[in-house]
Amino acid sequence: MVESRGDWSANPQNRGFADTVLEAVASSGQLYREGLGMIASENIVSPMVQKIVSSDLHGRYAEGLPNKRYYQGCGDFDTIEELGINLAKEVFNTPFANIQSTSGTVSNIAALKALAKPGDKITAVSTADGGHISHARMGAVGLRDLNLSTYPWDEERMEPDVDAAAALIREVEPTIALFGQSVFLFPTPLKELADAAHEVGATVMYDGAHVLGLIAGGYFQDPLREGADVMTGSSHKTFPGPQGGFILSSSEDEKFQRRLNNAVFPGTCSSYHLHHVAGKVVALAEFKEYGEELSKNTIENAKAFGAALAAEGFDVLAEGRGYTESHQVLTRHGELDSGAGARAADKLEQAGIITNMNMLPGDTKAMTPSGLRLGVQELTRVGMGRSEMEEVARFYARVLISGEDTSNVKAEVRDFKSEFQTIRYCFNEEGANGYPF
Ligand SMILES: Cc1ncc(COP(=O)(O)O)c(C=O)c1O
Repeated sequence: MVESRGDWSANPQNRGFADTVLEAVASSGQLYREGLGMIASENIVSPMVQKIVSSDLHGRYAEGLPNKRYYQGCGDFDTIEELGINLAKEVFNTPFANIQSTSGTVSNIAALKALAKPGDKITAVSTADGGHISHARMGAVGLRDLNLSTYPWDEERMEPDVDAAAALIREVEPTIALFGQSVFLFPTPLKELADAAHEVGATVMYDGAHVLGLIAGGYFQDPLREGADVMTGSSHKTFPGPQGGFILSSSEDEKFQRRLNNAVFPGTCSSYHLHHVAGKVVALAEFKEYGEELSKNTIENAKAFGAALAAEGFDVLAEGRGYTESHQVLTRHGELDSGAGARAADKLEQAGIITNMNMLPGDTKAMTPSGLRLGVQELTRVGMGRSEMEEVARFYARVLISGEDTSNVKAEVRDFKSEFQTIRYCFNEEGANGYPF
């Protein structure tokens, strides 16, 4: 008989490694619980989703599709995935949904695999203008060995230059015309561009990783009805679920749908993280109830935050367009390529405000950019509204304009945040309604 060792270890150093991780996890939890999480790609999951992602499903496999599996023991998961596919079709108002992909990047890899072959041409937004690395040769586009041309960019409007981008599509005649960005302030003028793409026989793909929740809530834009054939995205940014991805399509064509499914499994995933899929399904159910209100409030907060930062004296991009129509706001903190964005992000972290530096139009170096990309989706999720956005902007000004001692501001940020510890827009569970750690 094997003796149970409990938590005893013959080698205390190994136990020490585990303790180091446990302590770092607790410390990271504390950082976000007491601070202001303002990274535009992040969010916090509901108590019910927290519970599901740490369930037994974590260790299980279910290759295939519901009721067509390679493993036994999948009956309960079939129920979950079938329900999730139907909910995703309903929430995104579309005839096809695959909910298996493990991230936005994996969704893109799978979609590019399904829609193009090596050597084909693709058009997309350049990373310098806010496109994602998976849209570039260094990422999924290169992995599929696609030939990339990037759209001319309208810096004033922070969107592709419609006429020039349509002309590029007509000239290049790509297999895929890809739209969507990581820096995503305004809806893509998709109708015009999708028309040009369809004219030359391209498939229109829209990467909604950042704005998926806003879209599902009925705001921002409606890509699948504006000409996108396929929409990919993350399930954990403005869509407030666990880490993962979606692939959605407006196509009723079963052969096309099969290609998309096959590109996820067996194309890019074997295990597709069942606990996260189950978490996505609960997040979809919660979204059906609260998503519209959450999306509306998120966008209103972003607009209010942009205006409040400008009123404090910050250089906020796209003033002429009301700063933003998404969850994001962009600020400039110095000369191009000066690293002023990096220094601002560092100072803010000292005051308990977590952000990321970002390249702005004209910056050429990702490690020394001039700007910050800020997101209000997590603050909205814990119940903040317009007046709180003004208070948050004041914290920014105290740190970055008045140069106040960051430890003083951090203490005030902690007090301010202590009033916002309940996760909103979700089904509530007794005793588990706050930050997980
Ligand atoms: C436009 C875009 N696509 C894809 C991704 C990748 O998403 P994930 O982190 O889920 O892989 C991101 C990440 O921020 C993104 O901004």
